[in-house]
Amino acid sequence: MSDPSVYDENALEAYDLVSSMLSPGSGLATWVSSHHPLKGKLVLDLGAGTGVSTLALADAGAKVVAIDASRPSLDLLESKRGDREIEVIEADFRDVHLPTKFDVITLSRNTFFLAQSHDEKIDLLGVIERHLKPEGAAFLDCTDPSEYLHAGGDASSVTYPLGTDRMVTITHTADRASQSTMSIFLVQGASTLSAFHETATWATLAEIRLMARIAGLEVTSVSGSYGGEEYTSRSREMLVVLGRP
Ligand SMILES: C[S@@+](CC[C@H](N)C(=O)[O-])C[C@H]1O[C@@H](n2cnc3c(N)ncnc32)[C@H](O)[C@@H]1O
Repeated sequence: MSDPSVYDENALEAYDLVSSMLSPGSGLATWVSSHHPLKGKLVLDLGAGTGVSTLALADAGAKVVAIDASRPSLDLLESKRGDREIEVIEADFRDVHLPTKFDVITLSRNTFFLAQSHDEKIDLLGVIERHLKPEGAAFLDCTDPSEYLHAGGDASSVTYPLGTDRMVTITHTADRASQSTMSIFLVQGASTLSAFHETATWATLAEIRLMARIAGLEVTSVSGSYGGEEYTSRSREMLVVLGRP
């Protein structure tokens, strides 16, 4: 697992901007709401980070418990919380024991792939199983694994503007054999430069189905976009809903 606390403040601010820009939380909230109305519901957001998804889930009417191992990320989340119903807990999401059960559990923006091995993913699915109400649902918001293998997995970069005075270049490399991908984020201003990285290990839908079964869950729905498009070989997203069998 990559160290989730490696981001310094500069990187964190950039991560928050990139995260909001590439995958605004409103998309996730729309997808979740289409399966499970959020108003008045209790949501556990695992790997909440700086809160891009957490805030959107709370804005849709949910009461959210946000868990992350990175204190600086949670500090930024808290600074944006306002009067929304959000509780923040610093913890490792593979080993969480809360006395509460939740209507909805979310792992947004590839957080599921940050549990690096199959065993870690099964532990994480076990955490979901323990904390889900009988009729509850969990939402894994993943990039489709095929996306990582464009250009055969060789390094590919994309640069985005970050506000008016900076830009971020994100370079991905993927390794098919270990199903892992490394993303390096390079944030450049006129006289500043900072970098951070993230390592993830992807799982195919077939592997997720199997691991979910082992953890006492099942895949109840898969779509290819937040808007509910069918999941096909052309999908760039793999949006998985889990429930109890
Ligand atoms: C890809 S980010 C997603 C952040 C947020 N959900 C979003 O939509 O912007 C993954 C988050 O998982 C956190 N994380 C990674 N490993 C973790 C662990 N073992 N326990 C808790 N949080 C972890 C990282 O600190 C990071 O904030």
